[in-house]
Amino acid sequence: MSPTMVQQAEDHLALAAGAKNVPYTYTDPLSEVPTLPVVETSADGSTPIIDMEALLGPQRSEIIQQIGLACEKNGFFAVKNHGIPEMKINNMLDTAKEFFHLPVEERLKFRSADPNSVIRLVTGFEDKTRNIFVSRQSLKFHCHPVEDYQNHWPSNPLSFREKVGEYCASVRKVEVAILEAISESLGLERDYIDKTLKGHYVSINYYPACPESELDATFGVRTHTDPTLITILMQDDVPGLQVINDDKWIDVNPIPNSVVVHVGDMLQALSNCRYKSLLHQAIVNCKKERVSIASYCYPSDDAMIGPAKKLTDNDHPAIYKDFTYREFHESMWRVKCSTAKRLDLFKVESD
Ligand code: OGA
Ligand code: NI
Repeated sequence: MSPTMVQQAEDHLALAAGAKNVPYTYTDPLSEVPTLPVVETSADGSTPIIDMEALLGPQRSEIIQQIGLACEKNGFFAVKNHGIPEMKINNMLDTAKEFFHLPVEERLKFRSADPNSVIRLVTGFEDKTRNIFVSRQSLKFHCHPVEDYQNHWPSNPLSFREKVGEYCASVRKVEVAILEAISESLGLERDYIDKTLKGHYVSINYYPACPESELDATFGVRTHTDPTLITILMQDDVPGLQVINDDKWIDVNPIPNSVVVHVGDMLQALSNCRYKSLLHQAIVNCKKERVSIASYCYPSDDAMIGPAKKLTDNDHPAIYKDFTYREFHESMWRVKCSTAKRLDLFKVESD
């Protein structure tokens, strides 16, 4: 059995173990992704761009409005002038590539069947029921505060802990600033979302060039939403990210020195569906390998995630019940669902 297949088997075992005491029934997980009648792929020009420097100046309220509009209409935006030094970004991307170019035995040291492990390597796998090969390899790890987790990270390449730590600490500042702006865009106190924040989990995603498979289709990552408040994605210069906007697939091509921020499931719940969790995927590139760094920003385990009280009234009844992030997270492993439909379990009607 190749290492890839071993990991796949282990992942399935972990899922099966989590599914033992299933308290919920759920819709067919294979039907969770919408089938788009018209799949158009538009090129550029569809990405709202937010200037973060202006957020800190006299134009703050205008920029907050732009952020609110982008979250509501598009579910994502690009952020320029975010303050993460270009050198730290380049170091992060170079280190990520170096790690994924290491011999496979070296990388497999980080394999773990435990989805809650502080660091975990996930390899590509074949989904034979759908005849699909998913080529993404990723190294996922906790990173806030950096000092608490750094010792669990790879020490090969030698500079990994230092360079990745620097990037994580910088992107954390962007997260906090953007979450404050998002809170305000919803008419909530500036720290409303930030005070539920606990974690910052990073996934270094590596997409090999033109991965080989005999199956019908190869994806980088299949269509999904992220179970986060927001995700901050930094891409290298190779396109691959696609999102659904207005029932069409849109390419979100890399814009130099900018990061992409998108809405996750927890923000959909907290905003009472005003901001919807973004459906997205990554396609593979036949000429070049691709690296992206996803920073998943998620709440503390005991944070209450129902719709903010200020956003509900008789005309806007709460769509979701109050639930803790722990409850949501536990249910995620039971319902094999990769989109915001997993929030349906917490809808008010499902009482
Ligand atoms: C993710 C993700 C997309 C990309 O890591 O959750 O959707 O372009 N990544 O790498
Ligand atoms: Ni994602």
